[in-house]
Amino acid sequence: MSDASSRPAVTYGRYLKLEELLSLQQPGADDPEHDEMLFIVIHQVYELWFKLILHETEKVKRDFSANDLYGAVATWKRLRTILKTLVAQVDILETMTPISFSSFRDRLDTASGFQSFQFREIEFLYGYKRGEVTGAIPDRESQRTRAEQRLLEPTVVDAFYDFLAQRGVRVPEDLRAKPVTEATRASEPLQEELLRIYHAQPELVILFELMTDFDEGLQEWRYRHIKLVERTIGAKKGTGGSLGIEFLKQSLWKPLFPDLWAIRHGM
Ligand code: HEM
Repeated sequence: MSDASSRPAVTYGRYLKLEELLSLQQPGADDPEHDEMLFIVIHQVYELWFKLILHETEKVKRDFSANDLYGAVATWKRLRTILKTLVAQVDILETMTPISFSSFRDRLDTASGFQSFQFREIEFLYGYKRGEVTGAIPDRESQRTRAEQRLLEPTVVDAFYDFLAQRGVRVPEDLRAKPVTEATRASEPLQEELLRIYHAQPELVILFELMTDFDEGLQEWRYRHIKLVERTIGAKKGTGGSLGIEFLKQSLWKPLFPDLWAIRHGM
């Protein structure tokens, strides 16, 4: 409610900026293809989820640094649920046939998820630091800079090491001293420590399992995305200029938290 002297009432539409939001889906030119709307909406939705993943991951890093187990567990639960939702949404795009996609694929020109700076930010924030891929992001939109800055930031894994150290885990010095632009390394000494902790501090087990869920979720998304690509464009090259499936396969089955997977056989 509002009176004439006060600001207009906050409404559902204003709070969510719906007019702006709903004006952002603009299928190409004068002859939009029917499925182009689906293609635009689903990518925009993914980018919104990516935004939330980045937001929540910043929080989980702070939780780790503050040794806040319960805060971290709550946020990992949310993060892995978002990721499972991302995986499920692939089903929707798979209702689009290859013929339908090829009716508007040319309009994409060089546009590709390859240029998603938020996806790169997620990869880098989670320790999959492969600086060479930022070259694909257009620099005129200052998006490349965002991804490059993430490359220079400590990762969730670094914050996890801080957390573990506060819980009495001996985190090997070489992991703490690793250059910030390098990807996460698997470490046998850390795996031994984690195995010890699994038994000695059962309250941490739920955290490790939620992190493993998230990791598995990203691997599932990569697999589903490859299958989506395969059934939609087959062996064609990507609009982003990569070899397509062959490029995407390089990241398949690569865990974010290799130590949490490596200890399974020892339990
Ligand atoms: C018809 C549907 C789709 C096709 C044919 C497709 C195709 C491709 C191809 C071929 C690549 C490799 C890079 C390139 O050369 O372009 C790629 C990368 C990528 N796509 Fe898609 N894609 C589709 C849907 C999606 C959706 C819905 C998303 C969600 C955001 C997405 C996100 C990405 C990301 C993040 C990458 C980079 C992955 C990496 O570097 O490992 N794609 N896509």
